[in-house]
Amino acid sequence: MENVSTSALTPDTGHRSGRRRFAHAGIVLLVIGLFGFLYAAFAPSHSAATSSDPAIEQGRQLYLQGCSSCHGLNGEGGVTAPSLIGVGAAAADFQMSAGFMPLRNHTAEAERHEPAYDDTEIEQISAYIGSLGPGPAIPTNLDYQSAPLAFGGQLFRTNCAQCHNFAGSGGALTYGKSAPSLSSASPKEIYEAMLTGPENMPVFGDQQITPAQKLAIVNYVRTIKTSPNPGGAGLGRIGPVSETAVAWLVGIGVCVVITMWIGSKV
Ligand code: HEC
Ligand code: HEC
Repeated sequence: MENVSTSALTPDTGHRSGRRRFAHAGIVLLVIGLFGFLYAAFAPSHSAATSSDPAIEQGRQLYLQGCSSCHGLNGEGGVTAPSLIGVGAAAADFQMSAGFMPLRNHTAEAERHEPAYDDTEIEQISAYIGSLGPGPAIPTNLDYQSAPLAFGGQLFRTNCAQCHNFAGSGGALTYGKSAPSLSSASPKEIYEAMLTGPENMPVFGDQQITPAQKLAIVNYVRTIKTSPNPGGAGLGRIGPVSETAVAWLVGIGVCVVITMWIGSKV
């Protein structure tokens, strides 16, 4: 039986190996094609100028008008402003939505302003700056409200309070700079500030503070911002030290007044 079956197949083999060769060539072509496709999909676009993405091209035009005088024609930086290559779309989005950029004048610090661009323009310019080099992308879907609040407070006190103080109301740093109050920052801006470390603020990468921890911090900062003052005269919640100081001053003042009153009675 076996003999019969093999002999029955024998005349076919020449034909079959030819087909196999065809199949091999096909697989090779397929693999080459796949590599080409993967390369096109994942290779960084080196030149944003030749980008086919219309948003990036739009952003580049806006960039040339509003930013290039300081940051250079290709984001390479200039005498007065740092390079934007590799800062990421998140940094650009943060700087523009908080109205720090475009910088109006060379004061010691960029100040918060109404944004100079609308949301679409900010998106386009950010996309262009993001295309200049790898950097943090704009965070999306910030579901911070369900993040654990007490945990966020703990993380805030360890990582942020030394500059922004315990109530997030800001504080002085060395060399005449200060860390701003966090009361105007949107959830996205708080997240982006951690990702990109504006000016003298350190970058808190995702290895250092995980995305889940960042959301907890955002929730905490938003809560101290929106929760009503717990009572008493508003001291700006500048912290336990000053509240103690006020208690002392007022307390001593009252004692002095009572003493004088007793003295005048005698
Ligand atoms: C008048 C000059 C000037 C103009 C115009 C200007 N910038 Fe800046 N930019 C600066 C300076 C100076 C800094 C660094 C100091 C700072 O961060 O406040 C800076 C910092 C930045 C940073 C932070 C970089 C980092 O390392 O995180 C970004 C992002 C940025 N600029 C984007 C822009 C964009 C986008 C525009 C246009 C919409 C713009 N800038 C226009 C001067 C300028
Ligand atoms: C070493 C001091 C320092 C630490 C630590 C620090 N920051 Fe900052 N932060 C700054 C400075 C300085 C700025 C102002 C940057 C600027 O003007 O562009 C800033 C800006 C910000 C802003 C933007 C505020 C606004 O509306 O202008 C946010 C939000 C923020 N920080 C959040 C945080 C959070 C959250 C942490 C902790 C994870 C943190 N910072 C830790 C110094 C610090």
